[in-house]
Amino acid sequence: MNNKSHSLNHLAIIMDGNGRWAKKRHLPRFVGHKHGMETIRTIALAANELGIKVLTLYAFSTENWGRPVDEVKYLMRLPIDFFDKFMPELMENNVKVNIMGFRDEIPDKTYQIMEKAMAETKDNTGMVLNFAFNYGARKEIVSASQKLAKKVKDGSLMPEDINEKVFAEELLTASLAPYDNPDLLIRTSGEERLSNFLLWQLAYSEFEFTEKLWPDFNAEDLKELVADFNNRDRRFGKI
Ligand code: FPP
Repeated sequence: MNNKSHSLNHLAIIMDGNGRWAKKRHLPRFVGHKHGMETIRTIALAANELGIKVLTLYAFSTENWGRPVDEVKYLMRLPIDFFDKFMPELMENNVKVNIMGFRDEIPDKTYQIMEKAMAETKDNTGMVLNFAFNYGARKEIVSASQKLAKKVKDGSLMPEDINEKVFAEELLTASLAPYDNPDLLIRTSGEERLSNFLLWQLAYSEFEFTEKLWPDFNAEDLKELVADFNNRDRRFGKI
């Protein structure tokens, strides 16, 4: 187990409540997403300052395609706006961008800008800002199983050699090792569910929930939740 008790290397966040934030103000949902994008900047810089090594953000799930067409279109535009606006700041802060998810139906323009952000920041040595985009944990686990099955079929792997380590190497988080498993998961907006996020990787993570809606979540809130995490005793099933 690479996670030491009390060290926060990998923080994962389910950014929730953009729609409700907008509704409360009688604004269209996209305005909530626009403000949510600003929160990503704030929290990424704050996490970097806290010395966090990997920040994974659930930006678009495999289920989000079921939202109204206009909202999906807007969400596909957000990475373009985000990197256009914040790329210089990410570079200044030595942040390395990673995109984790399935290529599938992502529009070319969105995909290209994400690839460009990864390429431009690839030599940065600071925090990894990992966007889960068109990500779904069950799809990830099925896809890992298929890759292993192919290896067994072509004779390069024996079924009895499949173990947790071998399995984890086929997951989308493999490149984040040794910090592939989040130490802490935060979900904003008062909802307390996983919504198909990192089902394998969160097996031993601590969870923190806050009522704050994502556009209202700030560096102070993050620090409070991290302080709470730091006061916990993580035993990983031991005593
Ligand atoms: C949850 O609010 C938020 C989302 C579904 C998307 C958030 C994504 C971003 C802000 C940025 C995207 C990406 C990049 C790569 C910069 P909700 O709409 O589920 O809120 P609700 O539950 O109140 O309706």
